[in-house]
Amino acid sequence: MMKKMTMQFCDTVQPQILGIHPYVPGKPVSELQRELGLSKVSKLASNENPLGASPKVVSAIQTALCEISRYPDGSAYRLKEVLADFLKVSPAQIAIGNGSNELLELVARVFAGPGDEVIYSEYGFAVYPLSAQVVGATAVEVPSVDWGHDLQAMLGAVTDNTKVIYIANPNNPTGTVFSRQEWEAFISQVPDNVVVVLDEAYLEFCDFPEYPNGLDYVQSYPNLLISRTFSKAYGLASLRVGYMVGCEEIIQYINQLREPFNVNHYAQVAAVAAIQDPGFVKQSVQINRDGMQQICSALDELQIDRIPSSGNFLCAHFPGKASEVNQALLELGVIVRPVANYGMPDTLRISIGTQEENAHFIEALKAILQR
Ligand SMILES: Cc1ncc(COP(=O)(O)O)c(C=O)c1O
Repeated sequence: MMKKMTMQFCDTVQPQILGIHPYVPGKPVSELQRELGLSKVSKLASNENPLGASPKVVSAIQTALCEISRYPDGSAYRLKEVLADFLKVSPAQIAIGNGSNELLELVARVFAGPGDEVIYSEYGFAVYPLSAQVVGATAVEVPSVDWGHDLQAMLGAVTDNTKVIYIANPNNPTGTVFSRQEWEAFISQVPDNVVVVLDEAYLEFCDFPEYPNGLDYVQSYPNLLISRTFSKAYGLASLRVGYMVGCEEIIQYINQLREPFNVNHYAQVAAVAAIQDPGFVKQSVQINRDGMQQICSALDELQIDRIPSSGNFLCAHFPGKASEVNQALLELGVIVRPVANYGMPDTLRISIGTQEENAHFIEALKAILQR
């Protein structure tokens, strides 16, 4: 009989892996249905598009279904061509990722390693410190001001060891946004050899008049990378497709490191069709605007403090009882996102849904608070 060996790999695993707390995604609808036997569930936990995806995207995927046995185009030629035209940059300035998440991580892999520093903001997106930790770099968290990025303090945190700075505008989970003036004062002072990643995952939802569109700065700052996604306003979260725009040299390094077929064929086909349907994005933005108003008025009426948001989600504060409110919402079929892992134990993040989903959340919250 074979002797069963027990082994411990903690001595041989890369040391930085031991300290990693993996990203915690929103609870899937099917899981809550299974756990509590609920038929009506509203998921307002992952900043997804409540409208779904454009019918043109669905039709493009159906047409392409017969190509399932072929490897995808590893260079994403057509998608880059369409994006380049849409963004008014050259295809060589674009990298396509398996979600923008992949690209955010690849930047850390390209530029940082043990002994290097990666700067991000308190309440910044969880993937930034994770990307640093995975490569053994030090993640340097800079205290936020009013839940948003303190860009001057981030600049002050730059040392000779700084390799990458991650910034989200609007920020997730807080929804805060910074102005063109703040951005220009920052980017003009960042040393040329420090790479700045400006994550614009929620740009389409932002109607702040002073919003700095990152693309306007790419040609002037070769150390600037703009990250965007098809997961939010375009409604393609399950397909995993995002992109980065920057100088050709850095884009080339990212391409050297990524997997050869990192973005599947259907994601590429869908992204092309999505760009060609701007009406769908417009409609998604409008639904979000209406839903934001619907939820904000209800929170105001209930006198629940919240952080003003420029994204498709918002943070509401429940001092001393966020976890209890979250559990009670789950029991009533509403999934929102606790953000204790972001150092916000009293806060819940609520994604904006359809009018009906928002009403479900509001009714459930009212019932809980009246108990
Ligand atoms: C700020 C921010 N950046 C990037 C992402 C990653 O999105 P994806 O990998 O779906 O493109 C998210 C997802 O929630 C996000 O909130």
